[in-house]
Amino acid sequence: MAKYPVVVYGASGYTGMLVMDWLIDQDIPFTAVGRDAGRIKELMSQRVVRLESATYEIIETEHDVDALAAAFVGAKVVCNTVGPFGKYGPVAIEAALMAGCHHLDTTGEQGYVLKIRAQFGQQYAEAGLVLCPSLSYMHTIAQIAAELTLDTPGIDSLETATVVRGPREGSGVTVGSTASIFETFRQEQFHLWDNQLVAWGATDNFEITVPEVLRPVFALPWGGTSLPVFYQEDARVRYCTSLTGFYDNQAMRLVLAVAEQWEAEIKHLPIEAQEATIAQIVASTTPSMPPRERTTLNRSIDTAVGRGPLGGVRASVSSVTPYITTGALQVAAAMKLIEGETDAVGFTSGCKAFGHNYLLGFLEQRGLARASVTQL
Ligand SMILES: NC(=O)c1ccc[n+]([C@@H]2O[C@H](COP(=O)([O-])OP(=O)(O)OC[C@H]3O[C@@H](n4cnc5c(N)ncnc54)[C@H](OP(=O)(O)O)[C@@H]3O)[C@@H](O)[C@H]2O)c1
Repeated sequence: MAKYPVVVYGASGYTGMLVMDWLIDQDIPFTAVGRDAGRIKELMSQRVVRLESATYEIIETEHDVDALAAAFVGAKVVCNTVGPFGKYGPVAIEAALMAGCHHLDTTGEQGYVLKIRAQFGQQYAEAGLVLCPSLSYMHTIAQIAAELTLDTPGIDSLETATVVRGPREGSGVTVGSTASIFETFRQEQFHLWDNQLVAWGATDNFEITVPEVLRPVFALPWGGTSLPVFYQEDARVRYCTSLTGFYDNQAMRLVLAVAEQWEAEIKHLPIEAQEATIAQIVASTTPSMPPRERTTLNRSIDTAVGRGPLGGVRASVSSVTPYITTGALQVAAAMKLIEGETDAVGFTSGCKAFGHNYLLGFLEQRGLARASVTQL
């Protein structure tokens, strides 16, 4: 049973520990939950900033609905960072529901977001609880940009681009993220066209331009992102496409090459062989936990172009340190939920439940993001 209002599940993970950093910063006591208490304790002592000021406990438990529910009960909010979420997420969601907790996660996986909306959305709504995926750099920052364009009445068509500095040796994509990225090859990827989810081709790719950088950016649908799902049932929006690219190197072309190989050689293999291929790719690309991000290295631009029939708006959010930003977003939302403040229950985006201006303001005040809006 959790003694404190916030549970961090995935407490030995890179992102889980960054959520803890921000909880400590906000003086919020927390319960750290994971499958190996010894590992959690050791990694927290190496990685979590200001641990000496924290009020916390550690609970070791297996990844099973009943065991997790027993660990979560007593808390108000579960911040879940155990991914790939398509693989591990539903068990934790079911456990949080059973324990009467709100569930926030850090997924970027569209297939999982679609699945949990259908499977758990109604039950969370009936329980008066929030089920909020992607409360993370991807795809909340792009959604904040989209919402800034939707502040102009009449906008009904959204194009977003998440443009990040690409991975280089030591620049920091985590084990969990790499596994999640390659997990998305298994899923169809959708954009929103006239209120319907329409599939991208598995190897669709684009050269895009964003005004903040001079050279064209090679971009992919990146699993489709959460935005078309969030906007599918939003009366303001009929169209939504979201792309992701790296703005300063060619690493995204390697991702496309793997996607092409997946389509040609791997997707027809038995599930065990697919698992083995993903595990081998993850091990070869992301051997260990990366160092803490730096603002000199880890920078991103999320741009949204919103258009109506006769005009448009562009909003851009420049941001730094996406994993640290993810921790901040989780805690900004947890603070609201501890106080019982939310504009939505059931399946929801962070922007809908907590407001894009609140989330953006939280990040801006901490030097993590800055937004600009231009009428087109
Ligand atoms: N959308 C975004 O912008 C964004 C940002 C940050 C993170 N994420 C996502 O968040 C997830 C976590 O990322 P991360 O960077 O924290 O990865 P990570 O450092 O690899 O951490 C993964 C965590 O999950 C736990 N875990 C893995 N398999 C488990 C299992 N079978 N049972 C119980 N726990 C298990 C790990 O525990 P052990 O230590 O015991 O293995 C660890 O605590 C990924 O899916 C990633 O894509 C997304």
